[in-house]
Amino acid sequence: MRIHLSRPDITEKEIEAVCAVLRTPNLSLGPKLAEFENAFAGYIGRKRAVAVNSGTSGLFLCMLALEIGPGDEVITTPFTFISSATTIMMAGARPVFVDIDPASLNIDAAKIEAKITDKTKAVLLVEVFGNPAGFDKICEIAQKHNLIVIEDSCEALGSTLNGKKAGTFGAMSVFAFYPNKQITTGEGGMILTDDDDLADICVSLRNQGRGKAGGWLNHERLGYNYRLSDINCVLGIVQLSRIDEIKAKRKQVAKWYQEMLADDNRLTVPAEPAGCDISWFVFVVRLADRFTLEQRDKVLETMKEQGIQVGNYFPPVHLQPFMVERFGYRQGDFPVTESVCKTTVALPFYNNLTKDEVAVVCRELKEALDKISPAG
Ligand SMILES: Cc1ncc(COP(=O)(O)O)c(C=O)c1O
Repeated sequence: MRIHLSRPDITEKEIEAVCAVLRTPNLSLGPKLAEFENAFAGYIGRKRAVAVNSGTSGLFLCMLALEIGPGDEVITTPFTFISSATTIMMAGARPVFVDIDPASLNIDAAKIEAKITDKTKAVLLVEVFGNPAGFDKICEIAQKHNLIVIEDSCEALGSTLNGKKAGTFGAMSVFAFYPNKQITTGEGGMILTDDDDLADICVSLRNQGRGKAGGWLNHERLGYNYRLSDINCVLGIVQLSRIDEIKAKRKQVAKWYQEMLADDNRLTVPAEPAGCDISWFVFVVRLADRFTLEQRDKVLETMKEQGIQVGNYFPPVHLQPFMVERFGYRQGDFPVTESVCKTTVALPFYNNLTKDEVAVVCRELKEALDKISPAG
C-alpha cells in the first residue's frame, strides 16, 4: 500500500511512558488505571469513567448495568459499526432500527416516535463518523417518552454540539480506542456516567463480578474479565494529553480534502454541520446518488489497485447475514440507509497524512471516477 486507511500517531512520549510502566510490577489494576479514568472523566466533563478492554465490552456492560435484557427493545441506527447493534443483542434485547437522516447520517429524529412501543427501554445514539448533529432533538424525544439514552461515542472523542461534548448526552456513554480512533490504547474502551451506582456496577462487571470490599476470590455477581491493563492505560493518558493537537491535525487533513474535492460534482464531501465542532474520525465522501453499488465498488477496487487503501463504511447493519437470518430484514426496509451505504468511500485519514498524500488520494479518486463517469 502506498497510502494506508489509518495510522496511529505514537510519539516518543507514549513509548517512554509505556516502558516506564513495564519497569514497575503494576501491569494491571495499578495506578495508571485510575489516572486514565480520572483524566478521561475530566476531559469529557462527567463524574465517573470506567476503563474496559474495548468499546464493545463497554456498550455491553452499559446494557447490563441498565438492566436491559430479554423482552426489551432498544432503538438504534442501521448505519453504524456492528457492535452498536450486537451489544443490544448480547444482552438479550432487540435492536429496533430507525432510518437515518441523509444529511447528518444519524437516526432521523422525525422517525423515532413511530418505533416506540411499550417494550422500548432505551435509545442507543451513535455519533456516526464523529458527528453529533441532531442529538439535542433526539434526547428531547427520549426524555418525553421516558427512555434511557445510551451514547455510543466510539467515533466522537472531542466532538461537540452547541458546545456540549460527545459523551455527555447519554445516561451512559462509551468511547473506544482501537488504533484507528482519535486516541488509541491499542485496544480499549471507556464508559462514562454521572451515576455512581451504574459506574460501580460496571467496575464490578469488568472485574469478574468482584465487589468493592471482599477478596480476589469473592464474586458478588456474574462478571467478566474486561479489564484494561496499565500498559494500555498509560498509552491512553499520553494520547489524551495530546487530544487538542490530534484534533487540530485531523481538522487540517479534513480541510485539505474539502478544498481539493470541492469542485467535483460527482461527490458529496462532508462538512461540519451548523453548531458542531467535529473531531474527525474518518473522512467519508459519497458518490452522487446516480451511481450504483457496483460502480462504487469499482472505485474502491481501482483505488486499491493504485495502492490507496479505502473503505466502504458502512454496509447496512440490518442486511448483515446473521441479522437477515435472525430478524428477516430485507432490502428496502431502511431506504435512506441503503442508498447512503451504496455510495460511501472512506478515504485514508490520520493525523500525519501530508498535504501531498491527500493530493495523491484526490487525484486517484478522480481518476477512478473518470473510469465510471467522466467529470461533468
Ligand atoms: C460506532 C462504534 N461503536 C462501537 C465500536 C466498537 O469498539 P471496539 O472495536 O473497541 O470494540 C466502534 C469501533 O470501531 C465503533 O466505531
